[in-house]
Amino acid sequence: MMKIKILTLFPAMFDCMHESIVGRAIKSGIIDFEAVDIRRYSRDKHFKCDDTPYGGGAGMVMTAQPIFDCINAIDPDHEYLRVYMSPKGERLSDGLCRELARNDNLLILCGHYEGVDQRVLDLCIDREISIGDYVLSGGELAAMVVADATARFVDGVLGCSDSHEDESFSDGLLEYPHYTRPPEFMGLKVPEVLLNGNHKEIEKFRRQKSEEITRARRPDLLGKKDGE
Ligand code: ADE
Repeated sequence: MMKIKILTLFPAMFDCMHESIVGRAIKSGIIDFEAVDIRRYSRDKHFKCDDTPYGGGAGMVMTAQPIFDCINAIDPDHEYLRVYMSPKGERLSDGLCRELARNDNLLILCGHYEGVDQRVLDLCIDREISIGDYVLSGGELAAMVVADATARFVDGVLGCSDSHEDESFSDGLLEYPHYTRPPEFMGLKVPEVLLNGNHKEIEKFRRQKSEEITRARRPDLLGKKDGE
């Protein structure tokens, strides 16, 4: 069982984690998922969690106290890997998701506004992770990406019918195209080789398609080791 705690000012955004594959894993007890409202830990009488930046500049900064108290209430013995979502972090990859999935306990802090007071990051956070070179209005969507992509590598989350053996990046290539019934749609036919049940031929066809699409779309992946 993997525990995932998300620390956020917007816990309701994470309701969607209860759908689909991760939702199924939560229901069956393989993933213990909780979105914790940082605001509950504010000692301000109005539960304020942000303030203007020292040195001036635009926007607001999340204050250290509510985050510090929230992290220490949830993880007093530092048993969680504590991650902060930030465009300044290391870039998320297939390999990093596999690595994160080896932790039994994962805590993900979501920043908002212009960010969070650097001191709470210095005091509490183990890793900063970015999901790409663009800026989101908060870390929540990024945290969902990390939680979903990581949960898929936790034993038992994927049934054998949706294993990640063949999927993109598992062998350093993009995945081959998929087809299902009917055999012809709007004049487009399913490739003959997929219909004849010759598994060796099918495997060869899929490998060839994988290489073709990787060469065309992501030549940078060719020659890399798994998950790199
Ligand atoms: N917060 C805002 N933008 C982000 C990004 N690109 N990755 C992770 N966290 C973020």
